Amino acid sequence: MQDHLEIAILDSRKMPPDKQGCIIPFGARDWHTDHTNHERPPKYTALYAVKLPPEGGDTSFANMHTAYTELPAEERTSLDKLETVNKIEDFAYISEEARAKFGTLPRHPLIHTHPETGKKAIYVHPGKLERIVGRGPDESREFVGALLNCVIGEANTYRHKWRAGDLLFCDNRAVLHRAHRDYDMAEGRVMHRIIVQGDRPV
Ligand SMILES: [Fe+2]
Repeated sequence: MQDHLEIAILDSRKMPPDKQGCIIPFGARDWHTDHTNHERPPKYTALYAVKLPPEGGDTSFANMHTAYTELPAEERTSLDKLETVNKIEDFAYISEEARAKFGTLPRHPLIHTHPETGKKAIYVHPGKLERIVGRGPDESREFVGALLNCVIGEANTYRHKWRAGDLLFCDNRAVLHRAHRDYDMAEGRVMHRIIVQGDRPV
């Protein structure tokens, strides 16, 4: 936003295509936490609903603490050892020079500990996942996709039906979120977003 640079305007009518030319609304590709390509990703994302389509455009949230604790102990132990390497998403408008400015790709634990609650949680953004340390990119993406498919279900998700004027805070360290792409993007779904810097995940 021109006079308030900390506020981002997310408008479904102005979405950039990815490298394959696909236009997908912000946040609608996968379940994810925000900005894992940063060393200190945002602890909170605040969304303010400005303009909504007549139908659809909900946002869902999934509890990554219960997703983790309900896995068998053996699987938790093996997930605890994994680290992700994180990059900028493949939007076509982001040049190689802009990517290079980010330098070394940040590494984060796949399972991190929430700094305030002390609870462990799955922490990942599949679209920003370059690879899991020690595995190839394709294998890593398949692995994370299968893991999220397995652990996310109706029992640990909340689906928010927006009303204009809603202000919603999301604790990115505890939940993953996903926007639903079940509306006509040309109609315009407009959110204002602020992200609040967090700590380095551990
Ligand atoms: Fe997001």
